[in-house]
Amino acid sequence: MTEPVVIAIDGPSGAGKGAVTQHLAQRTGFHVLDSGALYRLTGLAARLDGIELSDAPAVAAVARGLAVQFIPTQSGNEPFEIMLRGVAVTDSIRTDQAGVDASTVAALPMVRAALGDRQQAFRQAPGLIADGRDMGTVVFKDALVKIFLTASPEIRAERRYNQLKNKDMDVSLPALLESIQARDTLDSNRAVAPLKPAEDAVVIDSSGMPLEAVHEAIWAVVSKVVT
Ligand code: C5P
Repeated sequence: MTEPVVIAIDGPSGAGKGAVTQHLAQRTGFHVLDSGALYRLTGLAARLDGIELSDAPAVAAVARGLAVQFIPTQSGNEPFEIMLRGVAVTDSIRTDQAGVDASTVAALPMVRAALGDRQQAFRQAPGLIADGRDMGTVVFKDALVKIFLTASPEIRAERRYNQLKNKDMDVSLPALLESIQARDTLDSNRAVAPLKPAEDAVVIDSSGMPLEAVHEAIWAVVSKVVT
């Protein structure tokens, strides 16, 4: 039996992958995997359990046992209400600290292995849009379409700033820029699944592009192979 198709959307933090993923999901009716949320949830759950984020076996055990639910929502800024152990954590996993914690646990090979099967399970008919860092390079190497979406750190920091402000979070633009650059360095230089475009990825730099133009550029690629 052939596996359901996967569209991999990789790239650094704040490049607009989330918006692109939602847009493609609406156009195709495919399922969505927000793999970054799984790393964020692992970091949060480990903190709640009082586990040191550097304790790889303990954090991997948390990742394996994550009790999470992604409940589709029809309104609001987020496409899903995300539940961890029965409690809504949709906003608390989006803080900048949660992103930094996610990057820390994501550098641990045991944690990546623990989340691997969970990510594969999202691959269901009619297809999957998978958003992350290593969707096209590691988790879904056989993805039908691979997009690497990027933008300058300054533009990404500004977008993140606006997103977090919309959630009434207390954020500073210079601090966000510094955090995004630190996360880029960590994600790009780690030994396992570093952030980089797959050899067969289409790279799109969205720096000077309005969101509509980004959507259309990506749809032009996707619609050639997904009908
Ligand atoms: O995409 P998001 O900003 O939510 O991801 C948070 C962090 O999780 C990233 O900075 C990265 O370190 C990690 N991550 C990863 N592999 C993925 C998705 C996210 O390492 N597929």
